[in-house]
Amino acid sequence: MKSYKVGYVVGSLSSTSINRLLARALVRLAPPELVMNEIEIKHLPLYSQDFDADYPPVARAFKQAIADVDALLFVTPEYNRSIPGALKNAIDWGTRPWGQNAFTHKPTGVIGASPGAIGTAVAQQHLRGVLSFCNAPLMNAVEAYVQFKPGLITAEGDVTDEGTSKFLQNYLSQLHAFIAQQTQ
Ligand code: FNR
Repeated sequence: MKSYKVGYVVGSLSSTSINRLLARALVRLAPPELVMNEIEIKHLPLYSQDFDADYPPVARAFKQAIADVDALLFVTPEYNRSIPGALKNAIDWGTRPWGQNAFTHKPTGVIGASPGAIGTAVAQQHLRGVLSFCNAPLMNAVEAYVQFKPGLITAEGDVTDEGTSKFLQNYLSQLHAFIAQQTQ
């Protein structure tokens, strides 16, 4: 069995994040070939080009964590019909200094949860645009827009609805196939 390291990034800094619950569920539901570990963004300062000459250790570690994985998975909320500033900030760190873009050719998936009916669809479209510019090959299908209802995912990451659980399992199996195909 060939396994793949997948770094997942949670786009929310909230201590009660539903997207963190979703990430926990995805870790539990992932096929054994996908070894999932979080790449944290919460300690990154706000990016400025002033840092390019001497990247701080936290940003070096962030870029190294991206370099160390075979693929990335973004699990993000939608903020004002786009992605949270913290996530955009992290992506900006990952792309600089110029010529040292950590996302180049890194297979990537996007997914997100919201209490709203369209389940982060607009944020994911924005994120796809950003990641496309960053030259990260994106899994186009399947898409996953999760409408979060209280109790859908327990604090431990158990999905309480069988249909949602199957849907997420299929998403992860498609992600596995995409990563395998991209890294041949
Ligand atoms: C939101 N929320 C939200 N939801 C949505 O579906 N579309 C949106 O555009 C927004 N906009 C938005 C802006 C800001 C600043 C906040 C704080 C929230 C609601 C959002 O989906 C909800 O708070 C989720 O719980 C956020 O995800 P996490 O942080 O719990 O993972």
